Amino acid sequence: MTPATDTINRLLYTRGKHLTFRANDGIGRHDWLRLTPAYSVKLVRDIVADLPDGSVVTDPFSGTGTTPLAAAELGITGQSIDVNPFLVWLGNTKLRRYTEDELMAATETASGIVTRGREQASVSDLWQPDLFKIERWWAPGPLETLKVLRQEIDQTTGVTRDLLDIVLCRTLIKTSNAAFNHPSMSFKKDSKVVTEFDELDFSAAFDVFETEFASIIESARLDLAGDGTVYLGDSRGVVDGLAKADAIVTSPPYVNRMSYIRELRPYMYWLRFLEAAPDAGDLDWKAIGGTWGTASSKTKYWEPTIETPVDSEILPVSAAIAADGGKNGPMLAKYVHKYHHDMWEHFKSIPELVKPGGSVSYIIGNSTFYGHEVPAHDWYAKMLEAVGVEDVNVEIIRKRNSNKKLYEFNVSGHFSGGDHVPGRRLTADQTPEATLF
Ligand SMILES: C[S@@+](CC[C@H](N)C(=O)[O-])C[C@H]1O[C@@H](n2cnc3c(N)ncnc32)[C@H](O)[C@@H]1O
Repeated sequence: MTPATDTINRLLYTRGKHLTFRANDGIGRHDWLRLTPAYSVKLVRDIVADLPDGSVVTDPFSGTGTTPLAAAELGITGQSIDVNPFLVWLGNTKLRRYTEDELMAATETASGIVTRGREQASVSDLWQPDLFKIERWWAPGPLETLKVLRQEIDQTTGVTRDLLDIVLCRTLIKTSNAAFNHPSMSFKKDSKVVTEFDELDFSAAFDVFETEFASIIESARLDLAGDGTVYLGDSRGVVDGLAKADAIVTSPPYVNRMSYIRELRPYMYWLRFLEAAPDAGDLDWKAIGGTWGTASSKTKYWEPTIETPVDSEILPVSAAIAADGGKNGPMLAKYVHKYHHDMWEHFKSIPELVKPGGSVSYIIGNSTFYGHEVPAHDWYAKMLEAVGVEDVNVEIIRKRNSNKKLYEFNVSGHFSGGDHVPGRRLTADQTPEATLF
């Protein structure tokens, strides 16, 4: 048993809460949807493990909702914010309590959908998303299954629809040519564009839907001991409706130009959170570090509106990137500056989010551009100190990849006053074995 599993078992035991081994193992609802930059459930559990009953944990950058779900599983309250409406829907669907009646109703509906759907074995003109080069994603057989499922799920409402949309997301990714062996989503190496409709492929995709449905229902059935909510909002300011937190635990976007909209586009198109490419650029522009599509040219012409406490360190690094980065240099220099400018707007808001004595934990990686290191962890530490966080500590929690210089850090500290519960330090044998990706 890993120390983290031991911790959760102890907590669940001492709090008298019941969860099965699957949730303890960190699978369950955490596994509902893949987002490459999702962080480790064990890591969150380790950080929040010592918080007393009744505590509130806030994650200003929710992603797939790992933090509020881990908190709710441990019997405390989790709340999070995300700027992406799809992730807000996903998080709240993962955090809902499902009654047996709701699960039975969804099961009956799913069974009817599969029976009717299998009968329509031919290419139809049903709606399909306007996803760029859709034929690279799916062969005609599974694409047809997805179209049939989409049309059938559109006839449902409420809890059933939410659960079936999750199952559709899992089915569409499992039947696609998407590969996850890179930091960001790409296509499988050997994937070829198939043009013929194959009835066996069509039918096999319904099998995937059935298998995924069974696994989602099983984990939805596991009750949550605590509560969690995801709010739609921009963490560069104060978002209304949140309770004051005992701890902030989060991993903001890294300074690596990863676009969450790009990563999530197959789900967002099939669930109609995105309709056309310009929407993707507009949404990415709202996200910290978003430079996908039109957001990239906007970054190039961006100008700062405020100073940050680390400008004297950022500016020489971005000037060096501008000088050495060739054609992309000026845009990347702005990107690095804007990223920290936006994070400073966020950090300025956190004293209002946290109770006196509350702790903060920011999981962040450094990065390099053309050989110039962007030490986001150090700049986070300085910005946190500037908003009154005390005992700021930067610890390495993981080496990111074979590049010797890239690490993931936990930048932590606490506000003064109150009954401060010291954040747990991760010792070598508690270092998370693997992240979810
Ligand atoms: C690294 S991901 C978080 C991953 C998360 N820890 C998980 O386990 O899934 C960062 C998230 O920050 C969100 N984000 C970016 N800019 C934001 C902003 N201004 N306000 C709120 N959320 C934002 C992105 O949409 C993305 O979901």
